[in-house]
Amino acid sequence: MAYDLSKKFNNQSNQLIDLRSDTVTKPTLGMRKIMADAEVGDDVYGEDPSINRLEKMLAERLGKEAGILMTSGTQSNLCSVLSHCARGEEIIIGNSYHIFTDEAAGASVLGGVAMAPIETGNDNEMIPENIFKAVKPDDSHCPISTLVCMENTASGKAIALDKMDAAKNEAEKHNLSTHLDGARFF
Ligand SMILES: Cc1ncc(COP(=O)(O)O)c(C=O)c1O
Repeated sequence: MAYDLSKKFNNQSNQLIDLRSDTVTKPTLGMRKIMADAEVGDDVYGEDPSINRLEKMLAERLGKEAGILMTSGTQSNLCSVLSHCARGEEIIIGNSYHIFTDEAAGASVLGGVAMAPIETGNDNEMIPENIFKAVKPDDSHCPISTLVCMENTASGKAIALDKMDAAKNEAEKHNLSTHLDGARFF
């Protein structure tokens, strides 16, 4: 049965262009051929040239030391949150963001990580003042605020760099790390 998008997004228009995910935009023949012809190997031994190239290319583009291939967005988000946070720690996150609304609370279930959802702005960006208000005091009754989880694009909106910077600066003021869920970043 087809998934009814109008229920999830309350969109009554039948003009909808469905760009939800690469699972609905199917690979073309050309893409399938490239996949079939790709050089492969054992990634654990660093012997898969295609994966090595992809990881190197992404690290370079994002200015990072290294990259690692994950097989889904949910898996990447979970690994990232669990890398940043220990049990009893907390993420501050937009209340519409995927990690909070659509990942079966995996960070809480598997990592004992609490989530503090906050209201976002017109472009679904994190608002510095709301981050500030969500940071917990140094008090043994509270979880320990550790990480700000951002998303871009968020619910179909691209968030401008100055807004991302403002949220990151606020996080840094409180010694919080930041994570970007960039499912549609590129
Ligand atoms: C913003 C965002 N993050 C994470 C995901 C999860 O990606 P995946 O379906 O590959 O687990 C999605 C999926 O659409 C998403 O839109």
